[in-house]
Amino acid sequence: MSRVYNFSAGPAVLPLEVLERIREDIPDWNGSGMSVMEVSHRGKAFMAVAEKAEQDVRDLLAIPDDYSVLFLQGGATLQFAMAPLNLTRVGDTVDYVQTGSWSRKAIAEASRFCDVNIAADSSDTNFCHIPPEHEWQRTANAAYLHYTPNETIGGVEFHFIPESGGVPLVADMSSTILSRPIDVSRFGVIYAGAQKNIGPAGITLVIVRNDLLDRQRADAPTLLTYKAFADSGSMTNTPPTFAWYAAGLVFEHLKARGGIAAVAEINERKATKLYKVIDDSDFYSNPVQANCRSWMNVPFVLRDSGLDAKFLGESASAGLMNLKGHRSVGGMRASIYNAMTEDGVDALIGFMQEFEKANG
Ligand SMILES: Cc1ncc(COP(=O)(O)O)c(C=O)c1O
Repeated sequence: MSRVYNFSAGPAVLPLEVLERIREDIPDWNGSGMSVMEVSHRGKAFMAVAEKAEQDVRDLLAIPDDYSVLFLQGGATLQFAMAPLNLTRVGDTVDYVQTGSWSRKAIAEASRFCDVNIAADSSDTNFCHIPPEHEWQRTANAAYLHYTPNETIGGVEFHFIPESGGVPLVADMSSTILSRPIDVSRFGVIYAGAQKNIGPAGITLVIVRNDLLDRQRADAPTLLTYKAFADSGSMTNTPPTFAWYAAGLVFEHLKARGGIAAVAEINERKATKLYKVIDDSDFYSNPVQANCRSWMNVPFVLRDSGLDAKFLGESASAGLMNLKGHRSVGGMRASIYNAMTEDGVDALIGFMQEFEKANG
């Protein structure tokens, strides 16, 4: 077997231990003679998986009891619509912080359902900073405040939780969830597509404070309400059982690694050493302000973009895959989620230094 180091932004690398366990489980899961994909979601065996996954993620993130944990479909993009559908009435105003491509998309979708006030916007620096909180232009009676704790494309991360002042705080944590401890009690709704730090694509984690479960619009389709999923244990209809099972294995794996605090320490170390190599060279650069650089997605450009294709070709030959930056930013992007080992980051750093020597 030869595994590469996969720096994809998502779907992203999964822990090898989890993949091996899935391979072992598939033909004959739990001695059932069937795979987990072939059993009823309402049967005892799968219900146990579902409940354990929920409990494990509750333990990992220390989710308070007055929050529901939902396993939905539709990805984070559907949450761009579900948040306003579940938390606003027609004519309400919501506050959004625009710090990159994903918050911009969230704003465009929310604008279809209510009035969006862009409370802060960093497009003037090409999304390379986070406007200081005291400059945010908030609405007096906003139905909620939405932000994107980690912008996957720009590599911009909030290293603080905004002060929402009593308004429900809604966060798209798709590319940062489970990477560091968070105080869930500061949030009204947290949502995250799975395909970075949770598991395979196809399942979406939503954590919602229970007092917000009754605000949905009367005409919202059942499957677009948090309430229906909270009331049914996320079994309103057939859930994505395989993805739920695999997410459960990732949660188990994270617990075995010592939990989120232990994982965060490694994540910070991985990111710090990669940024240091970039900052110490004048061959590579990262445009993001130092106080908001992402631990998960590290974009960087080469001084001479004419070398991009060579960099990508040689890095791929060295087993360092999917380093091409997003088309809107150019250059490179190394996504170094929980499952990217420190060895992988060290290998990337070694390659970058050799490449600079040869071409700088
Ligand atoms: C921060 C963020 N939000 C939303 C999305 C969209 O997620 P999905 O494809 O699950 O809808 C992504 C995908 O990469 C993302 O990184």
